[in-house]
Amino acid sequence: MIYWLVGLGIVFLLISGLWLLIPALYGLPWIPTREKRIRKALELAKLKPGETLYDLGAGDARVLVMAAKEFGANAIGIEIGPMQCLVGWLRILLNGSRTRAWMRCGDFYKADFPSADVIFVYATSSQTFKLLPLLEHQLRPGARVVSIAADFSGWFPKLVDRENLIFLYEMPPEHQTGYNQ
Ligand SMILES: C[S@@+](CC[C@H](N)C(=O)[O-])C[C@H]1O[C@@H](n2cnc3c(N)ncnc32)[C@H](O)[C@@H]1O
Repeated sequence: MIYWLVGLGIVFLLISGLWLLIPALYGLPWIPTREKRIRKALELAKLKPGETLYDLGAGDARVLVMAAKEFGANAIGIEIGPMQCLVGWLRILLNGSRTRAWMRCGDFYKADFPSADVIFVYATSSQTFKLLPLLEHQLRPGARVVSIAADFSGWFPKLVDRENLIFLYEMPPEHQTGYNQ
């Protein structure tokens, strides 16, 4: 009996360690966005049926499922946390979004997203700063970047929703003075 309890304790510690530790090691814990805020962000980005959305740091895939089900988009999530990847896949399967939504387990700094029409990101300011040259290099004109909570310092936003703290940018971005690439 005691061995079972110790075994269960170890499994529990392992799962919670993977769940919390790996995202935190990459500088950003898993904090899910509320549904209402996601919907608002996708509306501001004018996500259309058939367009391709990437969620950089997709968490449990809630953004992907909404983009696929409510907006008819193709949605791809890139996520570093193994447990979040697993839960994300399950959410996609359980919501019947398998033909429109996909999870990729990996680092968004090393990802390619040339086909993206919309990038959704909920990251820290230092992460958005690091992502900035990557997005400028890869995104085609007309692509939109919608950011929750953190702005992209160096770019002028096309629109700011102050109530929900959402920043919208369109490629190519207008640069703020003093910003050097
Ligand atoms: C604040 S949560 C947002 C989750 C989801 N996008 C949402 O809005 O509900 C940020 C996510 O980014 C992931 N993450 C952090 N750094 C990452 C990296 N370098 N590459 C991929 N995912 C990363 C974390 O594991 C976490 O799940």
